[in-house]
Amino acid sequence: MVTTTAPAIDVRHLVKRYLNARTNAVDGIDFTVDPGEFFALLGPNGAGKTTTISILTTMLLPTSGVVRIAGHDVRTEASAVRRHVGIIFQRPSLDQNLTGEENVRFHSILYGLYPFRPSYRLMPGAYRRQLQDLAAVLELREDIFRPVKTYSGGMRRKLEIIRSLMHHPQVLFLDEPTAGLDPASRRGLWEYLDEERRRSGTTVLLTTHYLDEAENAGRVAILNRGVIVSLGTPGAVKAELVRHYVLVDADDRAALRGELLAAGVPFSGAGPFRVDVDGSATHALLRAIRTPLTLVQTHTPSLEDAYLEVVGRADSEAGEDGGTVGRGDDADRAERADRAGAAEGVA
Ligand SMILES: Nc1ncnc2c1ncn2[C@@H]1O[C@H](COP(=O)(O)OP(=O)(O)OP(=O)(O)O)[C@@H](O)[C@H]1O
Ligand SMILES: [Mg+2]
Repeated sequence: MVTTTAPAIDVRHLVKRYLNARTNAVDGIDFTVDPGEFFALLGPNGAGKTTTISILTTMLLPTSGVVRIAGHDVRTEASAVRRHVGIIFQRPSLDQNLTGEENVRFHSILYGLYPFRPSYRLMPGAYRRQLQDLAAVLELREDIFRPVKTYSGGMRRKLEIIRSLMHHPQVLFLDEPTAGLDPASRRGLWEYLDEERRRSGTTVLLTTHYLDEAENAGRVAILNRGVIVSLGTPGAVKAELVRHYVLVDADDRAALRGELLAAGVPFSGAGPFRVDVDGSATHALLRAIRTPLTLVQTHTPSLEDAYLEVVGRADSEAGEDGGTVGRGDDADRAERADRAGAAEGVA
């Protein structure tokens, strides 16, 4: 139940510069996400999405700025933040030597959801039901009892998802959750998440490169080189960036061209002609044309069109050499380990 109007996620002037990097991986971003909102963070490889999520989930310290999750500061109240969040990491973080079920069980115990029992059979019925339900949604079923080292990439992904959903988190962070999932599992996961959002008012922050998954988001932010270059509802982002247009053609192109000129509408091409009009204007234009048309094709922009436009535009404005010099995985691991050591213990 939502009892407060405080944002579920509140990010102010967030900056992250990795050690020895020449530029900021996250370069002063601001956004808030309301309780129960579905918010998508989009952007090309290296834009800073995972860095942002890592900070929001207390896995990484910010260089500067303030982040609050469900009202709790990620720096000073890390364990309170962790109780409220669920995370699906871009890079799997499973124990290979345990079975799928054991990974989920130990995670659930760590989060204080269930008391420790040495085997699945001895776990409470509620745990077993919840696990079976989730395993069915993601079509993992009996494979849940096999060792993780025998899993395919997609199966590991599914197990991560199941694990992160066990404690019904108030705020769920999904970093490319569907990368590598087959279409049936992908659809199953989205149906489950929609249902979970409706039932529990879960706030969802998603990153994805499948832009159709963000079409249903309440709002999207497009991140490029650590900066938010567009933020709004998918409709608003599209409207701001890409035009609706209609393609028309006729056997008598000269006549059609003359009519388009006379109508004073902007158009391009030598036939088919691309006319930049939308909605009601399209209807009026088509009614006004007398030349028999052989082609009428309306183009409604997708979020992907808008995304490509905004990222392309931002890149050409930024010019070359905007990248961050990375330190690689070892440094990443060391920083995370430091963080885990410094944080108030969850383990
Ligand atoms: N541990 C690290 N040390 C140094 N630089 C890093 C580290 N992790 C990420 N970076 C750099 O920070 C920038 C943002 O990376 P990040 O992983 O946040 O991007 P992303 O938006 O998640 O990309 P992708 O879509 O590929 O997952 C990149 O330039 C990357 O090289
Ligand atoms: Mg990433």
